[in-house]
Amino acid sequence: MINKPKNHISVLLSETLEYLKIRPNAVIVDCTLGLGGHTKAILDSEETIKVIGIDQDLNNLEVAKERLKGYQDRVEFVHCNFEKIAEVVDGADAILFDLGICSTHIDEAERGFSFQKEGPLDMRFDQSKDFTAYDIIKKYSAEELQEMFSKYGEETESKTVAEAIVEARKKEDIKTTTQLNSIIDTAKKFKRPGRSAGTNVFQALRIEVNEEFRVLERALEEAIDVLNPGGRLVVISYHSLEDRIVKQMFKKYEAKGKKEDEWKKIKFIIKKPLKPSEDEIERNSRSRSAMMRVVERV
Ligand SMILES: C[S@@+](CC[C@H](N)C(=O)[O-])C[C@H]1O[C@@H](n2cnc3c(N)ncnc32)[C@H](O)[C@@H]1O
Repeated sequence: MINKPKNHISVLLSETLEYLKIRPNAVIVDCTLGLGGHTKAILDSEETIKVIGIDQDLNNLEVAKERLKGYQDRVEFVHCNFEKIAEVVDGADAILFDLGICSTHIDEAERGFSFQKEGPLDMRFDQSKDFTAYDIIKKYSAEELQEMFSKYGEETESKTVAEAIVEARKKEDIKTTTQLNSIIDTAKKFKRPGRSAGTNVFQALRIEVNEEFRVLERALEEAIDVLNPGGRLVVISYHSLEDRIVKQMFKKYEAKGKKEDEWKKIKFIIKKPLKPSEDEIERNSRSRSAMMRVVERV
């Protein structure tokens, strides 16, 4: 059964359309098709363009197919990890990454992304893979858990939380999101008002399960390669660790003005990351942490 979105609003939508610099007959790659929100707006903006929509989540791909069925001859759906972009695309005029999770991931307790809803410790974007958050919580040593919580979640009490998990799993199998959240909540001494105790640990687990940082680095390298000259690359990320990877990758390939420098080179279209307006944040609280970066292939 397809899990349909309840209220999904695409983030930085008009800014995305503006910065992709869409021209007639362009081929655009949406690396994170999700529920098809950005792609629909892209297709509506110019009737001669085509979109290749990639997502590793089969459920979201089905939702997007249904939503975009009126555009069948202008959109191609690809189920794969976006790190494989170079295998499925042969030249693109613009590429979009809108990273992270969708409302379907959070709304559906069964996917195990939300600590507010009881569900299995899963967190896989691609459900055909075997490795889940349950495997991590069951098998990683206290040191491995601590390092991961600190590196991927910037969790200040990573040692305390890791040790509490190792102690708790001696007594019972930790199988659910709410079970894990309650262990974290009890273990942590310092809690930030308005922020659930499990936020950082859940973020770290999601990154580890899906190898998000390794995959993002590889995908950006490939995306720069796939872009046609003058093509734009737009990346929307949702936390500072992710944004740092994007920034560092763009700096690595930034053209410094010399002719011999121009193989696989890009220039920055905006220097600082673009953030949503107050108005957008009010309409869609999920957009609060969004940061957009834009480069152009020279
Ligand atoms: C924030 S949502 C995109 C929402 C979309 N822009 C829209 O307007 O509906 C991110 C999507 O990227 C997908 N995704 C995350 N990492 C991925 C990866 N490595 N490869 C392919 N898809 C990925 C997720 O499954 C999710 O559907």
